[in-house]
Amino acid sequence: MSGHIDIPIGSLLPKGPLTPCALSVASANSGRSFYIETFGCQMNAHDSEKVAGVLLARGYRQVESAVDADLVFFNTCSIREKAAQKVFTRLGDFRDARGENKIIGVLGCVAQQEGESIFKRAPWVRMVCGSASYRKLPELLDGLEAGQTRVTGLDLDTDETFETEITRRDNPIRAYLTIIEGCDYACSYCVVPHTRGPQRSRSSAAVLEEVRRLVDSGYTEVQLLGQTVNSYRDPSPRGMSFVELLLAVAEVPGMRRVRFTTSHPNDFTREIVEAIDSTPALCDHIHLPVQSGSDRILKQMLRTYSRDEYLSKIDWIRSARRPISITTDIIVGFPGETEAEFAETMSLLESVQYDGVFAFKYSPRPNTSAKDMPDAIPEEEKSRRLAILQSRQREIQIARNQFLIGMEFEALVDGRHAARNQWAGRTTSNRIVNFTSPEENLLGQYCQVKIAGAGPNSLVGEHLA
Ligand code: SAH
Ligand code: SF4
Ligand code: F3S
Repeated sequence: MSGHIDIPIGSLLPKGPLTPCALSVASANSGRSFYIETFGCQMNAHDSEKVAGVLLARGYRQVESAVDADLVFFNTCSIREKAAQKVFTRLGDFRDARGENKIIGVLGCVAQQEGESIFKRAPWVRMVCGSASYRKLPELLDGLEAGQTRVTGLDLDTDETFETEITRRDNPIRAYLTIIEGCDYACSYCVVPHTRGPQRSRSSAAVLEEVRRLVDSGYTEVQLLGQTVNSYRDPSPRGMSFVELLLAVAEVPGMRRVRFTTSHPNDFTREIVEAIDSTPALCDHIHLPVQSGSDRILKQMLRTYSRDEYLSKIDWIRSARRPISITTDIIVGFPGETEAEFAETMSLLESVQYDGVFAFKYSPRPNTSAKDMPDAIPEEEKSRRLAILQSRQREIQIARNQFLIGMEFEALVDGRHAARNQWAGRTTSNRIVNFTSPEENLLGQYCQVKIAGAGPNSLVGEHLA
């Protein structure tokens, strides 16, 4: 079991090679180049792909280093304090940008949250634009190209979504596709409703058209994205439900794997499980963030479900015919969380037996109602709880993965470790499988792999020819 790469299930893939792109490049900016650095979740990663598409269509060239770029964008994340701080540290590296004739732009959740105060903190920044205003990007770029010193896109009360036919996808194997933007929940710890605005769904026709285009350009796997993806409601007269859309996407000829993230427990229905059971192209993995195992803390978090309600949804998933893997997000050290309440989260971990957990120490955030709640948990205590949780979850994952030894799975290959002479792929349940094969090139192919070993975060096996 040694020598394989072990990274968490569900983590973002490293940047892959750029997919070929048939854009008619405008001549106005020939020679000008851009660079985008992305922080945060898959939605941000995908937004960067859309922004890159807009820039390429305007004639900019994409480069892999900020040093070589005329235009440098940071697409930022504000979910925890550390994530937001990282951006300001990074911006500090560019204080001489003006002298170097570089345009620096801040996009994403920190842009929306901090707004024009970013210009004060980092006066060399020339664009601040939140994700709900990306439709304005061409206009903002016009302003910069015409010599305007500073431009902003900070409008939140929009019911528009950012759709573009010129998205430049980074990952040639798995295509991200946003079906719903923003969030209408109001979890007391969370910045997202403030940074991404109100919930708005894309029309089913536009989604299905994009899925067909993905198949035409060679994709066989799509991941539908939304902060509460299963709250999707088709705004067009067709009025498709989330499950109807899932089934329609899975029926697009040539689409072999359909994933979706993140599901909110409140909107999680039995029909979703039934759809997965009846439709092989729907992947057997559900990410269902619980946040806490304590009813009192869930109430304080304004999560809108109880522990028992959550567990009854887990029961639906566990009683499915397919072995659906389940992952979650957990926050430890929410204000006032007692030792006994933390123990309830630990007991929930035992009951559910997750295949993966993303656990975080609570971080107070601006504009959220939990920010000023009393009884903050000391940092060391949060770290202690996080370590206890992660260590127990690691044991659970080792046991769950070892149970798979000897079984065979289909892996879609998305990487290669040349030094180890191994290929890396994902099962439909989103497990990472590293395996050996006599084949020359397997990238993008579906391979049958027999599992020979298992760690907490990945499996290792052998290609069955
Ligand atoms: N929309 C998703 C999650 C969005 S953010 C949902 O409702 O589940 C991703 C995860 O970051 C959350 O699930 C939560 O576990 C964590 N998170 C969000 N705000 C946080 C905060 N203030 N401190 C610590 N973790 C936080
Ligand atoms: Fe944040 Fe809650 Fe919305 Fe998720 S559902 S994005 S945690 S407010
Ligand atoms: Fe971060 Fe914004 Fe995503 S805060 S997690 S980039 S929605």
